[in-house]
Amino acid sequence: MSIIKEIESIILEAEEALSKAQSEEELDTNKNNFIGKKGKLTQVLKGLASLSVEEKKTVGKLANEAQVKIESIVESKRNKIKEEFYEVKLKSEFFDVLRTEEPKEKGSLHPISQIQYEIEDIFTSMGFSIMDGPEVETDENNFGALNFTEDHPARDMQDTFYTKDGNLLRTHTSAIQVRALRNLKPPFRIIAPGRVFRYEEVDASHENTFYQVEGMVVGEGISIAHLIYTMETLLSRVFRKEVKTRLRPGYFPFVEPGFELDINCLVCEGKGCSVCKQSGWLELLPCGLVHPNVLSHAGLDPKKWSGFAFGLGLDRLVMMRYNIHDIRYFQSGNLRFLKQF
Ligand code: DAH
Repeated sequence: MSIIKEIESIILEAEEALSKAQSEEELDTNKNNFIGKKGKLTQVLKGLASLSVEEKKTVGKLANEAQVKIESIVESKRNKIKEEFYEVKLKSEFFDVLRTEEPKEKGSLHPISQIQYEIEDIFTSMGFSIMDGPEVETDENNFGALNFTEDHPARDMQDTFYTKDGNLLRTHTSAIQVRALRNLKPPFRIIAPGRVFRYEEVDASHENTFYQVEGMVVGEGISIAHLIYTMETLLSRVFRKEVKTRLRPGYFPFVEPGFELDINCLVCEGKGCSVCKQSGWLELLPCGLVHPNVLSHAGLDPKKWSGFAFGLGLDRLVMMRYNIHDIRYFQSGNLRFLKQF
């Protein structure tokens, strides 16, 4: 019977068309093409009227089954399309919350900052506070209050950068001593790290910009013994071995007596080598007892109060630690140099 064949071929056609559908819209269009109001199967069934009762039964049953079959194909295809849709969506939107950033190139602290922070830790563990001051200073703070006379050679244009308004770029962190003496009530212990400036011809051992840490302790009965103990503690921790020191006389207007502190040569342990020019000692830092004029200038009675001060050059310290022969590397911004630290 041709109508039965027609129904069978509609089923085959529907199966094929539905299996190709890519989206739910396509699926629904196809569904309508076969079992919608104007669908192929519906059209065929219109011809049913001309059939006998027996035939109507057989064909009607077949048509029903066809309808159910096509519907079930549509639904299973619909599920498949949905599954695929979510699979693609999940894959494209997936991210691993535990995954960390691809490693980028990492920077590091400048070796001078590193040693500065180390020194700050050492001193704070000994009860020192950290003080700061401006890089542009008054002549009074940088020189006057530190007992530099008006005609002292350090004030010379050759050493100092002056600003147009009569101030200057501080030539040493000792300027912060003056601020400490003016602002703190003794007894006190401070260090003051900072950048300093000199009008220098730049070469392997001279820079116009470099770094110091100033230290100052003021109290009653502060003596050279306190100074030596503090310096030996500091240096043994910085160099990670026991460091011996010796004091030689040195002149700075703001200390009396003033010293150059030497340490036993770290390379030959004092036996004599090319680094210490066979002397067994390395000149490391200037220091001394705070000059009575500096104390009384700040309104402190030198008979009651005494103190020590020192000035540590950070560039030199880093150069010694890493065996660096040219101070100009520090400000060069040279990455091949900086990446080593
Ligand atoms: N301020 C001096 C300089 O830069 C270094 C110095 C010497 C600091 C003796 C001190 C000191 O505190 O007591 O050259």
